[in-house]
Amino acid sequence: MNTGTSHLTANAATLLGEADKQRVRAIRSRRWLVYPRAKQVLDRLNVLVDHPRGTRMPSIAIYGDSGMGKTMIMKRFRDQHPPSFNSLTGRLTTPVLAMEMTSRPGERRFYAELLTLLGAPQRPRADIAQMEQAALRIMEAIGVQVLVIDEVHNILAGTYREQRIVLNTLRFLSNRLQISLVCFGVNDAREAIGGDVQLARRFEQFTLSRWAANEQFEILVALMLRNTPLRYPSVLSAKSLRRILQITEGITANIFHMINSLAIEAIESGKEHIADDAIESWEPEFDAEAAFA
Ligand SMILES: Nc1ncnc2c1ncn2[C@@H]1O[C@H](COP(=O)(O)OP(=O)(O)O)[C@@H](O)[C@H]1O
Ligand SMILES: [Mg+2]
Repeated sequence: MNTGTSHLTANAATLLGEADKQRVRAIRSRRWLVYPRAKQVLDRLNVLVDHPRGTRMPSIAIYGDSGMGKTMIMKRFRDQHPPSFNSLTGRLTTPVLAMEMTSRPGERRFYAELLTLLGAPQRPRADIAQMEQAALRIMEAIGVQVLVIDEVHNILAGTYREQRIVLNTLRFLSNRLQISLVCFGVNDAREAIGGDVQLARRFEQFTLSRWAANEQFEILVALMLRNTPLRYPSVLSAKSLRRILQITEGITANIFHMINSLAIEAIESGKEHIADDAIESWEPEFDAEAAFA
């Protein structure tokens, strides 16, 4: 059997020198893998950061089922544009500001969340106009260019009136500060944003669809395997790939979980590769619906 490391990325190959325990830990703590669709979305998001200010800033909405990797992309985008000190202006700038839409948001809760994130929490009784002014002032001062909102479908938990108000607030912030909005949410979020026609119009939409039996999915699995520190290459049959899809229901989080578990099993058994029969007999311990709800 092949004992070289050409089946691995340089990073994964280096891990082969570590004890089993360390390798298992490395697999468990795996952070971020750039599959093509994620790259495509990130490339598009990165364009927003350099977009010249104007009256109608382009915005992007990314929809996908729970566990499809939205928050991972959000964090990656945020981390690629960390706050930095501009030595020319002597100011600290935060080009990308990322927040989570509160559950059952209204104008007050939205601003409270935003201000806390901005490091300027308000008195509980502060009036909304004050909160709005404070948020505008700080965001302007730190040069926010893109406001990212995760879990945007939470808007739908509000009454019709609350929903309109929150959407209005988003449109107001975007117009007033001339910033782009990036919203992540489950598919229902489409409906939430659609509640404001003017706002919806400026959103370009991306969907993270569940994985299906095609080349994209093969690329994802191959990428995961190349990043998994096992001594021997894992060559999976088309049947195994179909089985992975069936068990995981095409949800990114479940696919990562399944491959990681199989890899850990392969280390512990000494087999050192993932074989078709291991996939065939693998029993998921997750409940696809409950685990990432
Ligand atoms: N690009 C990725 N690289 C590594 N793991 C990922 C990636 N995308 C998703 N995952 C896995 O899937 C899990 C769920 O992803 P998450 O971004 O929280 O999904 P969502 O926000 O769409 O519900 C993550 O905790 C991680 O284990
Ligand atoms: Mg999420």
